[in-house]
Amino acid sequence: MKFEWKDEYSIGNPIIDNEHQHLIELADGMTNSATNDQLIAFIMHLYRHTREHFANEEKLMRECAHPHYEQHVEDHNELLTGLISKTDVIREGNWSKADIVELMTQWILHITSDDLLIRDSL
Ligand SMILES: [Fe+2]
Ligand SMILES: [Fe+2]
Repeated sequence: MKFEWKDEYSIGNPIIDNEHQHLIELADGMTNSATNDQLIAFIMHLYRHTREHFANEEKLMRECAHPHYEQHVEDHNELLTGLISKTDVIREGNWSKADIVELMTQWILHITSDDLLIRDSL
């Protein structure tokens, strides 16, 4: 399983697209982590990156009056909450590669479905 950026994911804003590329790299690093420590390091990086990314993306959505703004912010909060609760389980070593793939597939799906809708508002 490899998470990879594809040009078709581009929403047409270079800052957001770069952040999405980095997010996908982190998702790929997570799924290929061999140890608990490595995985936790990737998650911490993802968490910091995402908080900044979500703030930038939400600002862009406000500026272009994106119609699904409120629902989208809620989805961001759910992704972060899900990551935090999963991290507690991971810290105890209770995870498999399949769990991480499942978790990050939701994140990538957010980019390829919900974030892509922002393109129409730009
Ligand atoms: Fe995004
Ligand atoms: Fe988003």
